[in-house]
Amino acid sequence: MMGPEVCTSLSILPARLDEFRREGKKIALVPTMGALHEGHLRVVKLARASADRTVVSIFVNPAQFSDPKDLERYPRTLKEDVALLATVGTAMVFAPPAEEIYPPHFQSWVNVEQLGKRYEEAARPGHFRGVATVVSMLLNIIRPTIAVFGEKDFQQLRVIEQMAADLKLPTNIVRAPIVREDDGLAMSSRNRRLSAEGRRAAAVLSRGLHIARDARVGGEQRASALKEMALDVIRSEQRVAVDYLEVADETTLDPLNMVEKPARMLVAAVVDGVRLIDNIAL
Ligand code: PAF
Repeated sequence: MMGPEVCTSLSILPARLDEFRREGKKIALVPTMGALHEGHLRVVKLARASADRTVVSIFVNPAQFSDPKDLERYPRTLKEDVALLATVGTAMVFAPPAEEIYPPHFQSWVNVEQLGKRYEEAARPGHFRGVATVVSMLLNIIRPTIAVFGEKDFQQLRVIEQMAADLKLPTNIVRAPIVREDDGLAMSSRNRRLSAEGRRAAAVLSRGLHIARDARVGGEQRASALKEMALDVIRSEQRVAVDYLEVADETTLDPLNMVEKPARMLVAAVVDGVRLIDNIAL
């Protein structure tokens, strides 16, 4: 399989994309921050299956990091990422420098008022403003027919779906299912920062979620009971400090007392100083 073309500047990208469009090719975008793993590759495969040309953006977006140390520590592995993408048939990698995305005097931001103001936002103020702004820029630059986002970052996915609907963006936002390791841990670029012991302990998050899901399938509708079951499992690991665990409406993400419509259990926890998130449909 041929390796992807790597485009590191905004100036030449539109012309290359216009060539795809002139050839009548349908473009899919997979936005990432790099440090790619099997989870990302599955998203790319899903994108490829629904479009003719897949563009993967790799941009560690400074605007979505509230902690400068977290931004500094974020792995940057462009060469390895491009090699991995070559194995799944990516047409183009777009990896712009931060100065092109946020030039001096940049001052326009996208705020998704309700969905972007809870859960993750409490721990990472300004996070979703940064995500919504950079994603809207990427959609404007690349103008893909579809853009694919993983369900692992479920609140992010809902923020982006809402933004695309509210701003009448022409791109269709597509969901990609969570990809899990053999022990259930949701794949994430952050997992590589866990110690061996932390990595083993982190699997308790998905175990807790699955136990709650099984109870829901078995007929339990009380959110408090479902949360207690999940927390009992998760708290059995002392290395795992739960930040929040909530049962939320699938669309609004409002907390629920009773699960009588589609819902998600959302969890965030810190393991070895690494913040991990996961979720499951109930
Ligand atoms: O999920 C991510 O990797 C990022 O938040 C995204 C969507 C690429 C925006 O920077």
